[in-house]
Amino acid sequence: MSLTFDEFKDEATKVLNVKLDGYKIKRVQRRTDSLMRRHNINDYSQCLELLKDDPEFKAAYLGHFTINTSEFYRNPENFSFLQKKILPELFSDNKKVKIWSAPCSNGSEPYTIAIILNELNINPARYQILASDLDSEILEEARKGIYGQSSLKNVPGNLLEKYFKQIPGQSKFQLDSKIIDQVQFEKKDLINESFLQNWQLILSRNFFIYLTREIKKKLTRKFVSVLNPGGYFFLGNTEFIFNYQEYDLEKVNFSFYKKTN
Ligand SMILES: C[S@@+](CC[C@H](N)C(=O)[O-])C[C@H]1O[C@@H](n2cnc3c(N)ncnc32)[C@H](O)[C@@H]1O
Repeated sequence: MSLTFDEFKDEATKVLNVKLDGYKIKRVQRRTDSLMRRHNINDYSQCLELLKDDPEFKAAYLGHFTINTSEFYRNPENFSFLQKKILPELFSDNKKVKIWSAPCSNGSEPYTIAIILNELNINPARYQILASDLDSEILEEARKGIYGQSSLKNVPGNLLEKYFKQIPGQSKFQLDSKIIDQVQFEKKDLINESFLQNWQLILSRNFFIYLTREIKKKLTRKFVSVLNPGGYFFLGNTEFIFNYQEYDLEKVNFSFYKKTN
């Protein structure tokens, strides 16, 4: 007998070990339906069987519903503000600056931070960059540091030349190992696992858009609770915290919030 989407969702939650209820459910259904069409799957029961039996399909499903596209310098004007204003301030106020990219997807975001810090000539001993994601496949990709042109379109030419080498015979580029070594990757479910403390900068970009209002609120609290006073929370360009005062945040610029106490 074929399953309804709700029944599928409850079973898939167990198979994937991801609580699908935290995500905007209509969107999860649309993404499920489109993946099923792409794989010629006729109903949710068949989809569930594949999730159980086929690790490749399971990985494709996770990647498809969470959308792990990312790019270096995504919304360049924000990274310029980060480079000119936020990072110099954090390094002038703190001996060591802890930065967390959560979620990090293919690593473009935390590596952008590492490139900026190298361009600012900050001694790597003065910072730690942690990058987390739910998807272990994308973390494997991130650790390799190999990118196609679409991920690199916003990287200024001089930096592309300085930090990337084209792989012979391919249109892909290998990131300098010096930058790769400055980012530590870890698998973490941001909705269901606990967070480490004492961050000066947390980037959580292009993630809240997928979540229900309730989970967004819960996560905002959770992120702010591990941010040190004076630290910054950096969101994606279409994500906002409207009642930021309630979270002891001050809005500093489009997408940047500072923890007041
Ligand atoms: C669109 S990417 C954002 C990447 C990057 N921050 C950026 O803005 O380019 C969204 C990422 O969220 C991850 N994700 C979805 N649910 C998650 C969860 N519960 N915990 C951790 N990461 C999650 C996905 O695997 C995906 O890589």
